[in-house]
Amino acid sequence: MDLELAGKTVFVTGASGGIGSVIARSFIAEGAHVGVHYRSNQASANALVSEFGSQAAVAVGGDLADETEVESAFARVAEQFGAVDILIANAGVWPAEHVPIHEMTVAQWQATLDTNLTSVFLCCRRFIQQVAKHQIEAPAIVMIGSTAGVFGEAGHADYAASKAAIISGLNLTLKNEIAHVAPLGRVNVVNPGWVVTPLARKFTDDGQAIKDALATISLRKVAAPQDIANATLFLASSRVAGHITGQALTVSGGMEGRKLYADEALDLSRAIP
Ligand SMILES: NC(=O)c1ccc[n+]([C@@H]2O[C@H](COP(=O)([O-])OP(=O)(O)OC[C@H]3O[C@@H](n4cnc5c(N)ncnc54)[C@H](OP(=O)(O)O)[C@@H]3O)[C@@H](O)[C@H]2O)c1
Repeated sequence: MDLELAGKTVFVTGASGGIGSVIARSFIAEGAHVGVHYRSNQASANALVSEFGSQAAVAVGGDLADETEVESAFARVAEQFGAVDILIANAGVWPAEHVPIHEMTVAQWQATLDTNLTSVFLCCRRFIQQVAKHQIEAPAIVMIGSTAGVFGEAGHADYAASKAAIISGLNLTLKNEIAHVAPLGRVNVVNPGWVVTPLARKFTDDGQAIKDALATISLRKVAAPQDIANATLFLASSRVAGHITGQALTVSGGMEGRKLYADEALDLSRAIP
């Protein structure tokens, strides 16, 4: 089916990473012009641009928690392909160490919130400013949340809080705000569960962690990046999702939550009151 994404200018943040690079490829395959954003991994972004050519993609660097770097990134994409029609706010970090909140430093908390939430605020702000300026007809934002923002994640309060803010606060507010600027403008979220990428390597390299995760998931597998990219394409397309806004689509194989205790940690002598 033609998603009618050909010729659209799409800015994919974190396109040097595991999920973002597959999202960028998927939009290019639909004929879109893609701003391939990276922060430190320029080689990954450049490789994608070399593969598809400068008529399809442009590599754009920047720390998206920095206001001026966000401005420059949007300007670079617009210079090459025209104003951005679709923003995919995907960049993010998952601090891999398990750190309960009573041991978490303010520095860790702040760094995660800056990377995962302030960056999304800055990108959405810039995007909607240029939607207004260029009268973009059917703009779309798809933000990448996480099941951590739905179920919480012990040892990762910073990450879970940043994603919950995207799923609820930003998503439900911006879907109303964007429609005042562009009546057909839409905002949605895709929530991945466990996906095989470098971010999740500490998890995917640990057989017991996979077993524990699968204990809460209907399907007998974790996701591939393409599963997330497919949901993102769907929500970005006004042709197929033109009446969907303010929704969070969870792509997690039917995850129902978290396995909270290892079997040996269950003290059955206290289980029945
Ligand atoms: N993998 C999973 O299981 C999973 C599950 C749920 C949600 N997610 C979410 O999916 C998104 C992509 O994750 P992934 O697995 O593809 O991770 P990844 O492979 O580690 O990629 C992360 C991307 O974010 C960029 N980035 C990190 N900090 C940044 C900053 N301050 N400013 C700008 N860009 C920054 C990285 O750029 P450089 O590498 O160039 O520095 C990279 O492109 C994230 O939002 C993540 O929270 C992932």
